[in-house]
This record gives sequence, C-alpha cells and structure tokens, in this order.
Amino acid sequence: MKVLNFGSINIDHVYRVDHFVVPGETLPTDSYQRLPGGKGFNQTVALARAGAAVSHAGRIGTDGIWLRDYLEALNVDTTHLNVGEDIPTGHAVIQVGPTGENTILLHGGANHCIAEDDVDRILQDAARAGDALLLQNEISAMPHLISSAADRGLQIVLNPAPMTRAVRDYALEHVAVLILNQVECEQLTGRSDDTALDALAQRCPQAIVVQTLGEQGVRCRHGAETVAIPAVDAEVVDTTGAGDTFTGFFVAEWTRSGDVARALQLGCSAAAVCVSRVGAAVSIPTLDELGR
Ligand code: RIB
Repeated sequence: MKVLNFGSINIDHVYRVDHFVVPGETLPTDSYQRLPGGKGFNQTVALARAGAAVSHAGRIGTDGIWLRDYLEALNVDTTHLNVGEDIPTGHAVIQVGPTGENTILLHGGANHCIAEDDVDRILQDAARAGDALLLQNEISAMPHLISSAADRGLQIVLNPAPMTRAVRDYALEHVAVLILNQVECEQLTGRSDDTALDALAQRCPQAIVVQTLGEQGVRCRHGAETVAIPAVDAEVVDTTGAGDTFTGFFVAEWTRSGDVARALQLGCSAAAVCVSRVGAAVSIPTLDELGR
C-alpha cells in the first residue's frame, strides 16, 4: 500500500533547561539546537527509516528548503511539498527538562496556508483508492482533507495531535486507523478510564484505535479485541518525537504486512530508541538499528 503523508513541517528550536519556565520568570538555558521537526515531518522520516515508500505533501517557506533536502536524502517523494515565498516555515519552541519531558510552543506558519484547492489538486495527482493517507492535526484544511480522502476511497490514518476542539467535529467515522496518546484520548472522549477506548471504537466503528501510553506501552482496540503491548525499556533522554516515531513505524509495518500486532511491536521498539537520543527527527532509528 502506497503512503501519502499530508502533514506539517517545522523548524524546532530546542532548549535544554533544568526546569520549565514559569510565568514572570526569565530562565537561562543549558543548550540550544535548531533541528528538523513537525509531527508530519517526523512521521515521514520514521516511515522512510522503516523502509516504506512515502510521499510528503505540505507547505514550507524558503527558509525550510533544507528540510525538503533532508526528506529527499531519505528518498521521500516531495513533488507535492510546496514552497511559498510569503509565509515562513512553521516552527516550534521546545523546552526539554532533566527527565526528558518537554513543553512545546507551536507556530503554524506555512503549515496553516494549505487551502482546500491544494488538497483537491494533490489528492487527485498523488493518491489512488486504497492508498494510505497519513494525517496529523498541525495543518489547515483538515476537515476537507478527511472528507475528500474518504470520497476517494483512501485509507485514512489519523494522529489527531495536537488535539484541538475542532477534532470533535472531524468525520472520524471515515478513519481506518486512529493513533493518539492518553491525554488526547481523554480530551476527545471526556473519559480518563478504560471506557475511553470503547467510546472511540463506537465513534470510529471501522477503525483500528491505538492508544499510546508512554512508558506503559500501547493499547489497541480492533473490533471486539483489545491488545496491550508493553513498552521497550529505554534510558530516557528526550521524549520529543517518540509518538511520531511509533506512528511512522506502525504505519510502515501495517501497510507492508497488515499485521497489527507486529506493527505495534515495531512501533514500540523504534520509540524506545527515539527517547534515548536528543531531538525529534534526528533521533529516529533505521530498521537496521532495530536489528530487522
Ligand atoms: O511531536 C514532536 C513535534 O511536535 C516536534 O518536532 C514539533 O515540531 C511539534 O510539531
């Protein structure tokens, strides 16, 4: 199954801090790095490193050409990654604390300049019925993307991150795979217990619903069956991009073999390596590094 990722690309400004800055405080940082990122970008990198053939559609400014080059070096098809002269590439300001946890401030930039016309043209040119379309929630035109993809018979994989109120109104009944973390699950369903997965299964009756639980691994609901997979042990340095790594490796294996249990396990193994390194995209392993 071919994979088209229609997703965000960001420049990540990453600051190592001994605690997260609080209101009224000016906080010196321990280090600064400018790194490639964006949930869409990270997931495309993960797909490519997991051995999948992937196209990335989206929008950057001229300040983001180096990010397009990064994808092309991984053999990602960037035919539908548009470069605009007017709006800069999206960016994120990321604090990473001593335990590897982070806070992220996002500025959408060019990611928010994707119009419904762009969606129509790109889906027409780049996707055929049965292909997988991977989406996050960091670009504009999301409702139109989901409904157009459903009309075209695409297999929609949605990672609704970052969660916003608008997600509640997305046509989630068309989604084939829904991947979200515990907080996003609670925000979407209003439930913090085990019934959250039941609620999502009702809302997306055709979907494989995957809930990522950090150091507790993942839970997956598929029809009447619920599977839990433990996390792989890791020394946590920086959790940024761990969910994206899981998603990319999961989708690569699911589209390759259709084996959901194997895809969950591969996603967990890859995420464990990601958290042991600094950065988002740059910390995503290859299949070789996972011994596959
Ligand atoms: O999921 C991590 C990503 O979230 C970062 O790379 C940042 O750009 C934000 O999109």
